[in-house]
Amino acid sequence: MQANSKAARALIELDRTYGADNYKPLDLVVERGEGVWLYDVDGKRYLDCISAYSAVNQGHCHPRIQAALVEQAGKVPLTSRAMYNDRLGRFLKKLTAVTGYDRALPMNTGAEAIETAIKLVRRWGYEVKGIPDNAAEIIVFSDNFHGRTTTIISASTDAGYRRHFGPFMPGFAFVNYGDADGLERAITPNTCAILVEPIQGEGGVNVPPEGFLKRAWALCREHDVLFAADEIQTGFGRTGDLFACDFDNIKPDVLVVGKALGGGYYPISAALASDALMSLFKPGDHGSTFGGNPLASAVGEAALDVIVEEKLAARARYAGAKVMQGLRAVQSPLVKEIRGRGLLIGIELTIPARKLSYALLERGVAAKDTHERVLRIAPPLVIEDDAIDFLLAQYRQAVEAL
Ligand SMILES: Cc1ncc(COP(=O)(O)O)c(C=O)c1O
Repeated sequence: MQANSKAARALIELDRTYGADNYKPLDLVVERGEGVWLYDVDGKRYLDCISAYSAVNQGHCHPRIQAALVEQAGKVPLTSRAMYNDRLGRFLKKLTAVTGYDRALPMNTGAEAIETAIKLVRRWGYEVKGIPDNAAEIIVFSDNFHGRTTTIISASTDAGYRRHFGPFMPGFAFVNYGDADGLERAITPNTCAILVEPIQGEGGVNVPPEGFLKRAWALCREHDVLFAADEIQTGFGRTGDLFACDFDNIKPDVLVVGKALGGGYYPISAALASDALMSLFKPGDHGSTFGGNPLASAVGEAALDVIVEEKLAARARYAGAKVMQGLRAVQSPLVKEIRGRGLLIGIELTIPARKLSYALLERGVAAKDTHERVLRIAPPLVIEDDAIDFLLAQYRQAVEAL
């Protein structure tokens, strides 16, 4: 498909000429966003069903988050952690209160927060569990996505993420996602943690079998293994609970968050843990020039306020049920399964999902394939009934046009 105007094509060309070819974006050149809507350079409106991979749960340009950003930008945006700033403590207090943890270590991107969690659980493995030095193992799951650093892709089972990027970091053991018996077999005295997404987003919106997380949690308790949850994509209301682990009444030992913590304005991530666990980090053990900066702290605080005060988890539950019901009402031999929870929904097709993505884009809905045959529907959580009706009407037409 071609972007509709010469201006749009020229902008795409700039990107393609001067950028690395490491993404395959939709032919959509966004100029402006508001709530659940995006506007391209030709003024055409699209319902955003990508939400920057769930980083814009609060909707585009939320006025409260924007105001916090602008105000702090005029004071001091960056100090580094060489000194204290007047925003970080407030942000950490709010983040730990909202999530129910004692302490948070702020970073920027999701991958950095995962790296933080990896260091933390290994440190615990050596200093508390007594694993021999350099022998700690973290159990990860098939089709996971935790980020793109060389350590994190060492924990990936996707050949596409790993090809010609080795040598890889040792210390990861692999178990099929959802296989609790396999997990039990994989635990050794050197296992320090499991790292798990409660629902896999990038892996194709995979919801594990009922009881899997609870059993994994129990196995961790039984074998003195930490349970680290990657809620970078599922967190902050996306799945209809504040965190997807809440659905199973599980409180991870380490909770990793990112994306929506920045309210669509700023990259903010964090690893959260108990006092005892986080105290294993000492000065110099970990850090980031930008992590916890005053601008991020002000934005993060406002982003959390919006999530809580606008009851975004409950809204995702309501809207998700409505969207799911509407999508399932459209019968087509090309649709194999529709799955997910809250507003993290995957439509598995019998044909490449790109085709449906383009059919929707032509009709004013921006949604993208995650795995080859799965289209993800994940609009901002502030979506209202009229936008849901629009989505379902366009979906019906797009499927019929395939
Ligand atoms: C579950 C999960 N973990 C980690 C990441 C990596 O986050 P980032 O792209 O901010 O590094 C992502 C990004 O999609 C994710 O979905």
